[in-house]
Amino acid sequence: MEVGGTVKQAVCKKNDLRPGGMMKATLGRMPIVVCRTLDGGFYAFSNQCIHQGAPMSEGVVCGASAPTDQPGEYRYVKEGEILRCPWHGREYDIKNEGRMLSDPNRRLPGFKVAIEGDDVVVSK
Ligand code: FES
Repeated sequence: MEVGGTVKQAVCKKNDLRPGGMMKATLGRMPIVVCRTLDGGFYAFSNQCIHQGAPMSEGVVCGASAPTDQPGEYRYVKEGEILRCPWHGREYDIKNEGRMLSDPNRRLPGFKVAIEGDDVVVSK
């Protein structure tokens, strides 16, 4: 449905996505990827990586390594909150506006998500 230049659409059902999962969908004619974090939140982004256009829905939802105070030691953080591109591995922070971990000034374009009944509704 288009309302005053805004596209708003139910793209899937809540139960279509398990926590930590993702799926491709379309918003109008635009390919998007819908992600569900482990805490149950829903997020939607363009399904094209900003590097070279890979379909993000063919990547993985995972976590990331963060350095510790000890040289050579890392911690695994943000489990289920990172969307990793299938082609060259760039990682985007799902809960932080899709910002690229290696360059937070760049981000995967995102969309507003609302839950209406059983529907996951995305708008731009
Ligand atoms: S196309 Fe996504 S990292 Fe290169």
